[in-house]
Amino acid sequence: MEEMNHVAVLDFGSQYTQLIVRRVRELGCFAKLYKPEELSRLGKPGAIILSGGPKSTSDSDAPDLDFALLDSFGVPVLGVCYGMQLLNLKFGGTVEPSEKREYGPAELIPESKEGLFKDLSERSQIWMSHSDTVKNLSDDTTVLAVNQHGTPVSLAWGERFFGIQFHPEVTHSHEGTQVLKNFLELATDLAEFRIEDMKQELLSEIREQVGERQVVCGVSGGVDSTVLAVLLKEAGVNMRAIFVDHGLMRKDEGIEVRRNFERMGVPIETVDASELFFGRLEGVAEPEKKREIIGNLFVDVFWDAVGDAELLAQGTLYPDVIESASNEGSKASKIKTHHNRVDRILELQKQGKVLEPLAELFKDEVRELGLSLGIEADIVNRHPFPGPGLAVRCPGVVDRKRVTIIQEADAIFISKLREHGWYDKTWQAYACLIPVKTVGVKGDERSYEWAVGLRAVISEDAMTADWVELPYEILRETSHLILNNVPGVNRVLYDVSTKPPASIEWE
Ligand code: XMP
Repeated sequence: MEEMNHVAVLDFGSQYTQLIVRRVRELGCFAKLYKPEELSRLGKPGAIILSGGPKSTSDSDAPDLDFALLDSFGVPVLGVCYGMQLLNLKFGGTVEPSEKREYGPAELIPESKEGLFKDLSERSQIWMSHSDTVKNLSDDTTVLAVNQHGTPVSLAWGERFFGIQFHPEVTHSHEGTQVLKNFLELATDLAEFRIEDMKQELLSEIREQVGERQVVCGVSGGVDSTVLAVLLKEAGVNMRAIFVDHGLMRKDEGIEVRRNFERMGVPIETVDASELFFGRLEGVAEPEKKREIIGNLFVDVFWDAVGDAELLAQGTLYPDVIESASNEGSKASKIKTHHNRVDRILELQKQGKVLEPLAELFKDEVRELGLSLGIEADIVNRHPFPGPGLAVRCPGVVDRKRVTIIQEADAIFISKLREHGWYDKTWQAYACLIPVKTVGVKGDERSYEWAVGLRAVISEDAMTADWVELPYEILRETSHLILNNVPGVNRVLYDVSTKPPASIEWE
């Protein structure tokens, strides 16, 4: 059913493309992402959105699309940024380099408050990210909105083709969701998006991909791998769930993970590999190197435990994919290598041995999916935890002593957040070690010890984040407990950095 009247989003490579899919789904419509060359495989779309992208339409390798085919669907089409520029070219206009790249906020001033701009304010903030501009508009072009300088930022060609220069999908475009909603209202009978349907679709895709083979999945106790394991169980495929304890987990996490899986009726096998991990990490301080060691070792240990299973399932989500993308493999640029994107896994992927059913989903959608699979709310609402564990919260070298400090401080912080009702109000919170020794006084003695950093953020999808204005009371009580109970620490700091430019984790 998903092929009928769904919203097809053609991906021209913007970092934000998946957000368009997500916004459309939030508006209750079924949306799917396609490559431009997949246009002939859209089935029966009810509306089509062309995303933005990093290329210039004049680049020799600029992605193009079969316009006659696009037109033949007879449905409303919205071009966003690069998508709008492409439409302008197809309709006889030109696209030229802007005098300077426009990045950041601008103003949207609709010419009329009908159609695409129904219910919008006279002026509202929009978010721009482009270096080309539409010029020489053809006679068939209508300007629907301009910016504060009078430059066209939205165009229409006839009744079905629309373009917007800004990104409606990012929250910095304050009324962007309304623009998307208005666009969707121009389509007829769009298919509804319900997590229940998504679940059914994922279950049948899993059954089809796995067939009679055995699939193994690594579980960490985190939301993603937990939902994945329960999904595989629900699909009824031949599966084994393996929990590799790399020793870089939160305090007592191993016990909790085993207890939770028992509650859910999914048997798991545990491998205690902490000796091995600490051994390999000895003396290694470079963040990407640490990630690589942990990622590759994880696969080795895991694969050893597995024997000769035919498929590996991973709970990779979209933000993991986008942030590890290489310039070559994808059009978005590399920020850091995520645990589930190390060479070894990429190699397995080439052999068609990796299953990533959640790769199109964002965290909150995975949580909703988890609930619909019957997983209890306290498990589904656990804060995200990175694959490389506390290693990325321990800048510099990683050893047991440092990890124990983080575990103890983190347990104190999290319990304080829970006690004050702030755990569920934050997207992610943790303690990290700042391996800088400073002077202090303990008792009557001089101390020369490390600092602990506390971080609590809110985020919608981990792609951007803001630090949380926690009540001073929580910070004070946490700091007091850490300074009095965690040996080796004489200073506690609260991290007030947004993402970007910082990231959520320290490494
Ligand atoms: P950053 O630090 O990149 O984190 O802002 C974004 C989100 O991703 C989590 N994270 C990871 N998750 N494997 C994962 O599965 C990883 O290697 C990894 N690194 C970071 C991080 O905890 C945050 O929620």
